[in-house]
Amino acid sequence: MSAPEKNLKFDSAKAEAFAGKFLTVLNHGSLCVMASIGHRTGLFDAMSMLPPSTSNTIAKNAGLNERYVREWLGAMVTAGVVEVDPATTQYALPAEHAAFLTRASLADNMAVFSQYIAVMGCAEDEIVECFFKGGGVPYEKYPRFHAVMAEDSGQSVLSSLESHVLPLIPGLTDRLSRGIRVLDVGCGSGRIMNHLAKLYPESRFTGIDLSREAIQTARAEASEKGIGNIEFIVRDVSDLEASAEPGVFDFITTFDAIHDQAKPFEVLKGIYRALKADGWYLMQDIRGSSHVHNNIGHPIGTFLYAISTTHCMPVSLAQGGEGLGAMWGEEKTHEYLQKAGFRHVETNQLAHDIQNNWYVARK
Ligand SMILES: C[S@@+](CC[C@H](N)C(=O)[O-])C[C@H]1O[C@@H](n2cnc3c(N)ncnc32)[C@H](O)[C@@H]1O
Repeated sequence: MSAPEKNLKFDSAKAEAFAGKFLTVLNHGSLCVMASIGHRTGLFDAMSMLPPSTSNTIAKNAGLNERYVREWLGAMVTAGVVEVDPATTQYALPAEHAAFLTRASLADNMAVFSQYIAVMGCAEDEIVECFFKGGGVPYEKYPRFHAVMAEDSGQSVLSSLESHVLPLIPGLTDRLSRGIRVLDVGCGSGRIMNHLAKLYPESRFTGIDLSREAIQTARAEASEKGIGNIEFIVRDVSDLEASAEPGVFDFITTFDAIHDQAKPFEVLKGIYRALKADGWYLMQDIRGSSHVHNNIGHPIGTFLYAISTTHCMPVSLAQGGEGLGAMWGEEKTHEYLQKAGFRHVETNQLAHDIQNNWYVARK
């Protein structure tokens, strides 16, 4: 099509609508960064406990600088998160909004996830360079990743571990009570394993992760809570297939930890090898299709491809890895699991977790 022909087909209404949509994008993107700050500084928590208050009172109660708080409140009011009384300039966080923004909201606290926008942005210079030269960005370039990840899995896994996750495997809790061996690969800060180890003192738990920082956090929690039936190991699991002792574990888990591995397929083969013949493998990993056109309309599709572009894929590529990406999708997940040897694979979805599928695999 020539340029004049293309111009004749130019739909001005479509262009206007798109420009409007992009203004909303600018506002919403900015709101995410402000929400992250509101969560980290405790402003949402403080406001949820206060009656309508001036910026001075809010700042004082949150232990923060008033000038910054006032500017932040401007963003929150114009976004419709906080309400302001024009007569008194008193600000209020409605209870209906606080229900999704405060630490007291536990698993419903959506402000936790807004932190990922800043995590994505913190390595933008390195990512832009990768667009020109290829390569990856190591974990160390994302200083808050492990802390935010631990909060994320606290919401998506820990909060529903006993009520929804463990029941995915019939008989599992009985076996855990009697005493079995459990391995979590890519355990991060170890909150899930520590929780399980405390619940099931007869079982023995092992968590492995590449990150020294995350393993230190995991060990500190275990020691603070006096949990003795657990060990945390700093290790690259890329060679798990070759190094794993065969048939040792009754239950192996990965929580959001296969797609960003350097060698995801080798890790899956290692998990298969390390599992006992009657053992279970539980994999929580990103929900989506391996084909982009099937992901149009995915409720958080843009977010997931974005976090994949700016984190999951580059951290794998930085290890000389495959760079599978978060949106490797359900089709490829089944293909990898089958090729790794698993003959029975069940795909589950949990109502509280729109981001992930829960695969239960057996030999
Ligand atoms: C998305 S995080 C999930 C962490 C944890 N499972 C959770 O849900 O909180 C993925 C984890 O895989 C770990 N990881 C990535 N590559 C690894 C490798 N080659 N060997 C061991 N761990 C690795 C990272 O350090 C990170 O903690």
